[in-house]
Amino acid sequence: MTDPKAKTTPIREGWERAAVDYRKGFGLHLEVIAHRLAALLPRPLPTPVLDLACGPGTVLSALSGRTASSISVGCDFSRRMVGFTRERVAGSHGVVADQDHLPFGPRSFGTVVSSMGTIFSRDSEGQMREVARIMAPGGVFGFSAWGLPEETELGAVSRRIVAEWPHPFEGVLPPLESPYSPGRSPWLDRMAREAGFLIREVVSDWHRFRFPDTRSAAEVLVGTGRLALLVADRPELRSELVERAAAAFEIHRDPSTGHVSLENRYHIFILERGRS
Ligand SMILES: C[S@@+](CC[C@H](N)C(=O)[O-])C[C@H]1O[C@@H](n2cnc3c(N)ncnc32)[C@H](O)[C@@H]1O
Repeated sequence: MTDPKAKTTPIREGWERAAVDYRKGFGLHLEVIAHRLAALLPRPLPTPVLDLACGPGTVLSALSGRTASSISVGCDFSRRMVGFTRERVAGSHGVVADQDHLPFGPRSFGTVVSSMGTIFSRDSEGQMREVARIMAPGGVFGFSAWGLPEETELGAVSRRIVAEWPHPFEGVLPPLESPYSPGRSPWLDRMAREAGFLIREVVSDWHRFRFPDTRSAAEVLVGTGRLALLVADRPELRSELVERAAAAFEIHRDPSTGHVSLENRYHIFILERGRS
């Protein structure tokens, strides 16, 4: 199903273009966080399950086996990403929609998950209220987010590439940090309470990205929607982008092995929808 209100914007186009590379690149690196999120969800899992900003079904796939006998839905504004999820998670349904305009009725889901997806919402407070609306009482909302800018080495590389990119591009790049970046905060407490959620758990940890060399690190980062936006419909600029990205990773390269490693802080939030 495709929501007719899901407008085509430059960033949506960026993710659409990046989808194939993302699935075999950055999406694989995020599997660890998806599995961590899945492990923190209750057993049995309240169903049906919605994976919001699902990408290639990274979290739904980590949950497969726990959703086999129920409906599970992958929702993303990239049609290709939704297609990958449907291919990857047998029996799942796909909805192409903007996460800030959810086309679902009240109390539709028992569990809503989102790994590194809600961070791209343009209205986090409105989104939290919307997620509460589409969830059944007692349901669970589990999502992950990156930490603060000074805690995310990969984010710093991404920001540097963008800041130094010499060519004009259309659209505004969404930031990687979000209101969730501090982890548990007074803002989160207030917002969750107002939306009707109890905060069950916030787990904060570090994820180490490892790449065999600067070139492969660059290829992975270029295969994300933010950086795809820089080259948009000018594919002749892609090799320059990869070169610049590889140079930006140089400070994280071990001179003796050539391996690249960077650490990013992340948080996982487990919220429960109140019963009223
Ligand atoms: C970093 S990826 C995470 C994908 C997946 N959850 C994972 O863990 O691999 C972010 C995803 O959010 C989607 N996305 C970004 N903004 C969105 C929006 N406004 N509405 C729906 N999907 C969005 C992108 O298309 C992309 O698939």
